[in-house]
Amino acid sequence: MLATQHPVLRRFWYPVAPASKVGAAPFPFTLLGEKIVLWRGADGSYACLKDRCCHRTAQLSLGFVEDGQIVCGYHGWTFDGAGACVRVPQQPDYPALEKARVPAYRTVERYNYIWVALDEPLTDIPDLPEASLPGFRQVDQFYETWDIGALRLMENSFDSAHIAYVHRATFGDVSRPEITARQVTQVEYGFESTMSAVVKVRGDLAHKAVQTDSGETTRHTHSQWFMPFARRTAIRYPHGLTHVLVTCATPMTDNRSMILQWVYRNDTEADVPTSQVIAFDRAITLEDKTILESCEADVPLSTLDGEEMHMVSDRPGLIMRRMLSKLLRDHGETERRLAG
Ligand code: FES
Ligand SMILES: [Fe+2]
Repeated sequence: MLATQHPVLRRFWYPVAPASKVGAAPFPFTLLGEKIVLWRGADGSYACLKDRCCHRTAQLSLGFVEDGQIVCGYHGWTFDGAGACVRVPQQPDYPALEKARVPAYRTVERYNYIWVALDEPLTDIPDLPEASLPGFRQVDQFYETWDIGALRLMENSFDSAHIAYVHRATFGDVSRPEITARQVTQVEYGFESTMSAVVKVRGDLAHKAVQTDSGETTRHTHSQWFMPFARRTAIRYPHGLTHVLVTCATPMTDNRSMILQWVYRNDTEADVPTSQVIAFDRAITLEDKTILESCEADVPLSTLDGEEMHMVSDRPGLIMRRMLSKLLRDHGETERRLAG
């Protein structure tokens, strides 16, 4: 999907950084092709501005933060968190001060991440019940860029057919590639999907992370797709262990995404240390990265819609594309090309 070409995609919340990375120094990011800069003010609140000074267009992120305000590194014009210029150091009585502004964007902290919406949001940040459920802990796993379009990752997250092959070294089984169709139910924010599957448990790390001695186990999953580029998958194992994987593909450009992934688990550090939780899920997710980065980023919507080849397991991806296509139509955009 050429995400940067569709203004309606600016009307969603995206996580852009772990809260721990945004402090009293300018933090630059590119969201939907737009350069932004974030920082944390003296009162603890987060601010986000367009990373472009309104004086001579320098990147504000090359400057510094002073008293909770960002100072341009070129001539020192200083902006508050709302984007108003509050100081022109060389000319304290600068007559056009009130007109000097930089666009500011909505910014909140949720789930230990900083979320930004470039325009008025159409939906709220995804609701993740386990974030406040007693007995669950959060383990952060991924904050890194992948050279893929955001939709590619979302499609892959609901594609049961790839597991036997992409994950043949971890939990997949090429001798059992058959799949049963997922139940998919469309909802206002995206869709929900359930599936059960027998998977392999290979190696010490997997046995520890899944807390079983058996070579196989059954995973019951309940997944949600939050339009446009976030998913939550609750994986329940027969002995009561639950992993809730949250994966967001924040679109930086058309072909580059920031991958943010964390997991909620109803076990403790004593059961499985954080480092092993991270190592387990990262090993699996990096198998996806390799294959996804090998795919072409830009595929027309029609390629997987209707007459072209697809399997039963491609259906969630087709529904995604149709719902995104409708979103664009509903907001007055001509459907161009939707691809990963
Ligand atoms: S370009 Fe920013 S102060 Fe001049
Ligand atoms: Fe995968």
